[in-house]
Amino acid sequence: MVQVLWTSLVLLITFRESVSQEVKCYSRFDNGDCGDLLGEVTIEDCCLNPHYGYIGADGKCKFCGPASWSEWTPWGRCSVPCKEGVSQRRRECQGRGKCTLNSSLEELQKLTLETKVCIEPDCCPEHGQWSKWGEWQPCSATCEKGMRKRMRTCTEPPPRCGSSCEGPSEEEEHCLVDRVCPTHGGWSNWESWQPCSGTCAREDLPRPTQRRYRSCSNPPPSSVPPGDECPGLGSETRTCDELPSCPVNGNWGPWGPPSSCSVTCGVGVNEMLRQCDNPATKHGGLPCSGSNKDTQICNTKNHCPVDGQWSQWGTWEECKSNRGNIKCRKIGGQQRRQRWCEHTGFGGLTCEGKITDYRPCFDIKSCYFDSKLSEWSEWSHCEPPCGEGVKRTRERKCIPNLSEYPEAIGYPIKAKAYFEGKPKVNCTLLKDTKETLACIKVPLCDT
Ligand SMILES: *[C@@H]1O[C@H](CO)[C@@H](O)[C@H](O)[C@H]1NC(C)=O
Ligand SMILES: *[C@@H]1O[C@H](CO)[C@@H](O)[C@H](O)[C@H]1NC(C)=O
Ligand SMILES: *[C@@H]1O[C@H](CO)[C@@H](O)[C@H](O)[C@H]1NC(C)=O
Repeated sequence: MVQVLWTSLVLLITFRESVSQEVKCYSRFDNGDCGDLLGEVTIEDCCLNPHYGYIGADGKCKFCGPASWSEWTPWGRCSVPCKEGVSQRRRECQGRGKCTLNSSLEELQKLTLETKVCIEPDCCPEHGQWSKWGEWQPCSATCEKGMRKRMRTCTEPPPRCGSSCEGPSEEEEHCLVDRVCPTHGGWSNWESWQPCSGTCAREDLPRPTQRRYRSCSNPPPSSVPPGDECPGLGSETRTCDELPSCPVNGNWGPWGPPSSCSVTCGVGVNEMLRQCDNPATKHGGLPCSGSNKDTQICNTKNHCPVDGQWSQWGTWEECKSNRGNIKCRKIGGQQRRQRWCEHTGFGGLTCEGKITDYRPCFDIKSCYFDSKLSEWSEWSHCEPPCGEGVKRTRERKCIPNLSEYPEAIGYPIKAKAYFEGKPKVNCTLLKDTKETLACIKVPLCDT
C-alpha cells in the first residue's frame, strides 16, 4: 500500500516541475537509467531530442519521449521465507504526459503492480541451541600472561533450514602461567671500527682488514630461565680500501745470457744484463742496488794481427856516383840508408813508406880544406837542469871552408847536399871558442 501511494506522488510531482529550471541532461535513456551526461540545460532544451533523459527534482532519471510504460521488473522475493506467500513486480510510467487518462487510483494501481502466489520449500528456519562450553584450552603462553579459549557447538539441537544459533561459538580470557619469561638477548650498538691490520696495501697479499664489535648486552639474555643468545655475529670485518699502496723495493731479475765476446781476437769480455723487475720499484720503494751490467773475461784463442814496424834507419852508406871516383871533387853523388819492416805476423799489415832513403852528397873524406870559423851556435839548454850553478853555452868552431861547393844539387829537383866523410882542416890559427852564461832563477831539484 505504501508503494502504491509513493508511485502516485511521483507522477504528480513530474507534472509540476518547472520547465525553466536547469537540469542535468543525458544523451541516453535506458529503461529508467540516464547515461552519457551532456551538461545542464532547461528541460525544454534537453527534451528537444525525445531519446534523451534528465534528472528530475526527485533525483530520478526521466525520459524526454512521450509517456509510456517501462518494462516490468523481475518478480520479487516471496513474502514469507517458507510455505505459501506472494511475489510482486512493478512498472512505471516514463516520459512526458500520462500513460492513461482519467484512471482512478484503483485502476492506476492495477496498471503498475502485479502480485502472484509463491510457494517456497516446506521448511521454516529455526534457531539451534548451544551445547555446554568445552574445557578451557591450554594457555597460549608458556610463561607469564597469555590467552586461552573454550568452544561450544550449535548442536543441541542444531538449527533448521539454514538458521544458526545466536551468540558466539568461542570465548576467550586472559590466563597466567606461574613462570617468569626468559629475556632474550639484544645487540648493543656497534662500537667504532678497530685500526686496520696494516698501514698500506701490498700487491701480493690480501688487503688489510678492520673489525668492529657489538655485544649481546642490550639486554643480556637471562640465565634463569635461559634466554636466547643474540642472533648473528658479534663482530664484523671489512677491507680497508682507502689505504695507500705499500712501497715495493726493487729486486734484480736473473742475469740475461752473456753477449758474444767483445773482440774477435785475443781476450775480451762478455757482457750480461739484468733488469730491476723482480719486482720493479714501485710506490716510492728503493731502487735495485748495484749495476745492471756485469762482465766476464772471454778468450777467443785467436792471435790478433801484428802490424809491421819500421826499424831505425841504418847509417848512411858510402857517397858514390855512377860517374866514377868523386872523392874530393866538386861532383855530387848519392848515398843511401835502409830500414826494415819488423814483427809483421798473424795477417797484420806491412809497414808503409820507403825502405830505402837517398840523398845527394859530396865525398870529402880526408880532403884538405881551408878553415873558417862557424857562426855562433844556438845557446845550449841550461845544464844541469836544476839546482845551483846552472849554465848555458854557445860556441864557434873551426870548420872547413866549403863555400866552393854548390849548396844544392840533383836533377830534376835540386836538394841540399850533404858532405860525407871527415875532411882535413888546419885549425892552427882558428881556435874553437866557447861562451858561458849563468841561467838564473832555476828551481831547486826535487829531492
Ligand atoms: C473522463 O472524465 C471526464 C470528466 O470527469 C469524462 O467526461 C470522460 O468521459 C471520462 N473519460 C473516460 C474515458 O472515462
Ligand atoms: C873561403 O874561400 C873563398 C874562396 O876560396 C874565399 O873567397 C873566402 O874568403 C873564404 N872564406 C873565409 C871565411 O876564409
Ligand atoms: C898550418 O898553418 C900554419 C900557419 O899558416 C903553418 O905554419 C903550418 O905549417 C901548417 N901546418 C900544416 C900541417 O900544414
